[in-house]
Amino acid sequence: MEDIVSLAKRRGFVYPGSEIYGGLANSWDYGPLGTELKNNIKQLWWKRFVHQRDDMTGIDAALIMNPKVWEASRHLENFSDPLIECKNCHDRFRFAHMSEDVVCPTCGKKGRWTNPKQFNLMLKTFLGSAEEQANVAYFRPETAQAMFVDFKQVLDTTRKKLPFGIAQIGKAFRNEITPGNFIFRTREFEQMEIEYFVREADWKESFEEWRSQMWSWMTDTLGLKKEHIHELEVPDGKRAHYSKRTIDFEYDYPFGTKELYGLAYRGDFDLKNHFKEAPPYRDAETNELFYPHVIEPTWGVDRSVLAVLCDAYAEEEGRVVLKLRPHLAPYKAAVFPLLANKPELVAKAKEIHSALKMHFAVAWDHRGNIGKRYFAQDEIGTPWCVTVDFQTLEDNTVTVRDRDTLKQERIKATELASHIAGKLGEV
Ligand code: GAP
Repeated sequence: MEDIVSLAKRRGFVYPGSEIYGGLANSWDYGPLGTELKNNIKQLWWKRFVHQRDDMTGIDAALIMNPKVWEASRHLENFSDPLIECKNCHDRFRFAHMSEDVVCPTCGKKGRWTNPKQFNLMLKTFLGSAEEQANVAYFRPETAQAMFVDFKQVLDTTRKKLPFGIAQIGKAFRNEITPGNFIFRTREFEQMEIEYFVREADWKESFEEWRSQMWSWMTDTLGLKKEHIHELEVPDGKRAHYSKRTIDFEYDYPFGTKELYGLAYRGDFDLKNHFKEAPPYRDAETNELFYPHVIEPTWGVDRSVLAVLCDAYAEEEGRVVLKLRPHLAPYKAAVFPLLANKPELVAKAKEIHSALKMHFAVAWDHRGNIGKRYFAQDEIGTPWCVTVDFQTLEDNTVTVRDRDTLKQERIKATELASHIAGKLGEV
């Protein structure tokens, strides 16, 4: 994990947040390469689950919603963790992580704890200038609620019929008691969520469909190794307050096997709570009014980035290489002039770089020797390195070196973009 955190910082994937002010515990900023990787993940998700399907549509809702939303969704009442407090130093810890006689991790004194108390995880703020109870609002702890609250508006504007889903990508906030493990658990994070609306009779079939979609996303789209992913059927009493069934998809992170994504059957809990007056869905044929049931597949963006980095990181043959699937890589290619002090090579390489940039994100490097430049690109997962040499000036061909096989082939510069596009299409 240390190697991954250090690479992430050194190469500009993820930096500690507010670092020049001594940082802010558990806050992280995505740097240039991390932003590209994260955007690639979000774009692939949107393409796969919204654009390529007829039964999906997307929204982008406000982060702060009317506090009544959280009353109706029962988050104010239930979205909490039991905490115990050390009677000596008054620091608080999650009850689930402690036993009666454990030594306090903060002050080192043994076994003097208060009884567990519920601590709400929603991040509070005040709207307007007065910090009064009347002005209390909450940053959303899940993106999901907007899909329920906007359900009728989406229905009216899109004329979707069951089964259909609403997708959203966006930030969520939780006042986590024990954040940590790099970007695994933070107080501000991003989710990609789908609320998929079905008839009650169809929930099991839909649950299974989304279960296999999630597997395919993890193994085919992200390229995570199957053996690193495990399903956990969350037992009664351990599920979120709204869920009738939950499967957690766990990943083998270097710090342990922990949750990556979740799949829940929320029944009609949320729509019933928000549309108390009348059911929000009318069957076009039978005219029957009813509450659709909900299957909710949910993906953490930051945990996706983390799992992808962990799975891709390798040290081999004296080099560090991120074996990212090419469509996830921050740069699809890098272009180098063989020698930086030969203006004709640099000019030709610049020309090829500019042309390629119209199609993909492409890096440029002219420093140091070619071997070092290859290593620098391997470390950030660039799948193909293009070198412009003296032969290029004669026959307009370039060398393309493959990150994984280390093989080099000679390609016509004019065919470079379609060559790379073809390779991206294969993977
Ligand atoms: N709407 C359902 C929901 O929010 P969740 O299991 O609480 O379910 C969904 O969260 C996903 O969001 C998790 O599987 C995880 O990937 C991500 N997530 C949750 N809390 C997080 C945190 N504190 N930091 C980073 N990611 C988090």
